[in-house]
Amino acid sequence: MNQDAQFDNDGRLTSERYGDVYFSGDGVQETEHVFVAGNSLPERFAATRGTFVVGETGFGTGLNFLAAAACFVRHAGQASRLVFVTTEQHLLGNEVLAKAHAQLPGHLQARAAELRNAMAVASDSAVPTKSTSRRIAFADGRIVLQILLGDATHSLRANSFAADAWFLDGFAPDRNPAMWSFDLLREVANHTAAQGTFATYTVAGHVRRSLQDAGFAIERAAGFGKKREMLRGQRNAFDPPANALRLASSADTTPRQVHVFGAGIAGATAANAFARRGVPVTVIDPHGVASGASGIQAAIVRPRLWIAGNPAPDAEMLAQAFRFTASWLAETAPGRFRACGALLCAKDEQEMQRLQQRTANAATADLASWLTAEQASKRGGTRIPYGAAWLPTAGTCDLAGLAGDLLQHPNIELRADTPTATADLTVIATGNTLAAAASNLGTQCIRGQAIAVSWPASDTPPKTVLCTSGYLTPPSHDGLTWIGSTFDRDDAECDLRASDDHRIHAHFAALPDIATSIAHSDTVQRFAGVRNATADRLPMIGSLDHATDTTTVASLAHGSRGAVTAPWAARLLADAAFGEPLPLSTSYWQRLLPGRR
Ligand SMILES: Cc1cc2nc3c(=O)[nH]c(=O)nc-3n(C[C@H](O)[C@H](O)[C@H](O)COP(=O)(O)OP(=O)(O)OC[C@H]3O[C@@H](n4cnc5c(N)ncnc54)[C@H](O)[C@@H]3O)c2cc1C
Ligand SMILES: C[S@@+](CC[C@H](N)C(=O)[O-])C[C@H]1O[C@@H](n2cnc3c(N)ncnc32)[C@H](O)[C@@H]1O
Repeated sequence: MNQDAQFDNDGRLTSERYGDVYFSGDGVQETEHVFVAGNSLPERFAATRGTFVVGETGFGTGLNFLAAAACFVRHAGQASRLVFVTTEQHLLGNEVLAKAHAQLPGHLQARAAELRNAMAVASDSAVPTKSTSRRIAFADGRIVLQILLGDATHSLRANSFAADAWFLDGFAPDRNPAMWSFDLLREVANHTAAQGTFATYTVAGHVRRSLQDAGFAIERAAGFGKKREMLRGQRNAFDPPANALRLASSADTTPRQVHVFGAGIAGATAANAFARRGVPVTVIDPHGVASGASGIQAAIVRPRLWIAGNPAPDAEMLAQAFRFTASWLAETAPGRFRACGALLCAKDEQEMQRLQQRTANAATADLASWLTAEQASKRGGTRIPYGAAWLPTAGTCDLAGLAGDLLQHPNIELRADTPTATADLTVIATGNTLAAAASNLGTQCIRGQAIAVSWPASDTPPKTVLCTSGYLTPPSHDGLTWIGSTFDRDDAECDLRASDDHRIHAHFAALPDIATSIAHSDTVQRFAGVRNATADRLPMIGSLDHATDTTTVASLAHGSRGAVTAPWAARLLADAAFGEPLPLSTSYWQRLLPGRR
């Protein structure tokens, strides 16, 4: 927490580090003049039909947020929403906030108290160590505050959103140059929607020039109080990729009716994400819930590891997806997710070295560590001769059960045929079927079969998920252990094949006790499905054709990792449709778009 903020003898909140005040005695009037009127917010709020996004560079006491929220409530129509995205490197503690808020006028007090309460809950709760933002909803979700934690330039690079208006509010440029650097102002421009604006109290020459170079047309306006001038401006050119961030053109309308094609895990998580935001959703699937690849009852949820130093943007994205999904599953679906951990077992010396290098990667230190043969065998409850990478937050998920649970929501209607009423956002989550037909998406079908065996009563069962080239779950309450799987490219048949069992057993040849147990156990169930995958093994998430149509979006090609990537995709799609920041850089987001090359 920020210890450097103090109240001076005149009661002004001051930063020792930057030698500047958070706001002057006329704080609210100055905010209303510079930022609110400077961005013409009263008029623009009144004209908004969907989501209006305000960006800010320094959150501080939240005064600017409180003033913008008050203006929004006064001027905006009931159907519209405000998303306020701000950055902060040194969050203020609640005591300091309370003292600073005591200086605000009466009409801001109630929301200020609400803000402090929410901040107190957020800092008390077990926020995951990798959490880089806080989201606080006000007025039943009509106003959303997102605080991106850390340095502003870094936060903007790591998050994708497009603001309609920017409040540039660091301490004075000569005291806090990082908040006025060209790099940051270019990020601001890159995070600005079509016709988006900015306003700031400073007219410093280098700030003016940087804003111009970054892509804003700027003008001087009358400053507040003793300050003669201030700056305001509008984004010059509009960069089409940013448009992909506004699904269903959220500036014009927020989705009021969503159709989802496909009731597998991708469709069910997407439907649930919109339903939880209060949107009526119709899910269409002629074959019923989880009738495709998501029929698998034991899918492994685990991160992918990589060797530090190797440029691995895809792996980084997948690690991010895993972090999100593991905590989402623990919170949303504890009954369907068994967080028993997983051991990624080496099968020989060479693989042992490779896995050791991967677990030494600081970027995934929270997700994986190396265990020697002895440690791994103790942890797994079975002999693991070459040691293993221990993945403590991994586990196994009943995808079919989870998809069914997620669709049981009062805002979701499930049907077999397409309704006549239209939707303003359509999600295509048809797994292998449509993607295969849409050959221009360039995806591939990969058949997979897994088997369930009843674990021999005389043998010690494994205590965690065991992964080799395949996977094996600890026996569930019904005594069944699932073992997977085959991987047959360009085979789209779902018939069950007893002849595949030996290929599945072969994944565990290097774990002697396990190999013996499964050789003596009977196969009691088989499951076969068809995965749909891209060449780069990343899913397809976002507008099918973002240049012309942002109202038809995909959650497709989840390949062999749908249990990890489908819930994350659902969150990204809902965030994008509601104008909220996506926790990944714009270049990463573009790597997920269906039309990518
Ligand atoms: C044997 C096997 C083992 C696996 N193990 C794992 C694992 O351990 N971990 C992991 O993360 N992933 C695993 N996977 C992959 C995972 O199952 C998939 O990534 C995931 O289920 C894909 O979900 P989906 O919703 O995209 O597709 P699907 O589950 O295939 O759902 C698509 C749905 O769309 C419906 N549909 C089709 N056409 C239409 C249409 N025109 N209109 C409406 N609906 C339509 C279908 O009926 C189906 O219900 C495994 C897959 C297999 C086959
Ligand atoms: C002038 S104050 C902002 C006042 C604020 N808008 C309000 O309404 O109270 C500037 C803020 O920027 C934060 N800050 C300074 N440098 C930063 C950086 N590099 N990245 C993110 N925040 C930073 C400071 O901690 C401080 O809270």
